[in-house]
Amino acid sequence: EVENNLRPKRLENYIGQYKAKEKLKIFIDAAKMREEPLDHVLLYGPPGLGKTTLSSIIANELGTSIRITSGPAIERPGDLAAILTNLGENDVLFIDEIHRLNRSVEEILYPAMEDYALDIIIGKGPSARSIRLELSKFTLIGATTRAGLLTAPLRDRFGVICKLELYEKEDLKNIVIRSASILRIEIDEKAAIEIAKRSRGTPRIANRLLKRVRDYAQVKGNGTINIEIAKDALMLLEIDPLGLDNVDKNILFTIIEKFDGGPVGLDTLAASTGEERNTIEDVYEPYLLQLGFIQRTPKGRIVTRLGYEHLGLPIDH
Ligand code: ADE
Repeated sequence: EVENNLRPKRLENYIGQYKAKEKLKIFIDAAKMREEPLDHVLLYGPPGLGKTTLSSIIANELGTSIRITSGPAIERPGDLAAILTNLGENDVLFIDEIHRLNRSVEEILYPAMEDYALDIIIGKGPSARSIRLELSKFTLIGATTRAGLLTAPLRDRFGVICKLELYEKEDLKNIVIRSASILRIEIDEKAAIEIAKRSRGTPRIANRLLKRVRDYAQVKGNGTINIEIAKDALMLLEIDPLGLDNVDKNILFTIIEKFDGGPVGLDTLAASTGEERNTIEDVYEPYLLQLGFIQRTPKGRIVTRLGYEHLGLPIDH
């Protein structure tokens, strides 16, 4: 419940993601003026950036209700049919990990998105026929890590496509300060910046680190988080100064030691590190790219001079 309290309810309290917010505000206002449902929205970007939060905000701003589910949770066409027939006029249906819908379920979604209709097949074989059930108008918000994971027919049915980016340090700092205020934690600006720097551009991580640093401040200090307490706590948690974990470091070391700094293709890198290709692409690579530690070239990934420097290694080629 505390987690929920940290989630902003209005667009004006949602920090960062300025491009996405600007676009969404216009489309939401227009839909409200016309008293129509908002067009279907696809949100994509790395995990932990607030796609669910943003969807709840959209429903709030529209003055409608939201139904939250996920691709893997909808197993059969009937499950989706049950959800769709229970939506109210202009409601929001949020499907997280929408790329994981199975094919038969996805096909129910096409006429639902396009015509607000449910096509039901009755009977089997030559006597089978299809009847069309009208649905309430609704807005589908789909979330995924990469737009490219969706099938083309599904992707094409979204009228609004929004990319969420990793957060800048300044925005994360403000999220930490906002969360601290809601949780009644005393923290100074320098300490908030320190947590922001180690949060991999991700609010979910920033909020988690804030809570662990609070624990440390309560037991080892007087409850207030200053820069010394923050640094000591983050050292105990073995959080690298830039938030890198063992997997990030394994990726960098593998490219440097086994492939002379690159270029190396993603599949080869996945095999050599023992990580999933998708996990590297969705979770690890975006942050390493933001830091400028790796680059994507047509021939594969390379570690940059900055990457070598962070690991304290000389560039010897
Ligand atoms: N908590 C998580 N994401 C947030 C955001 N973008 N703004 C404010 N609080 C948040």
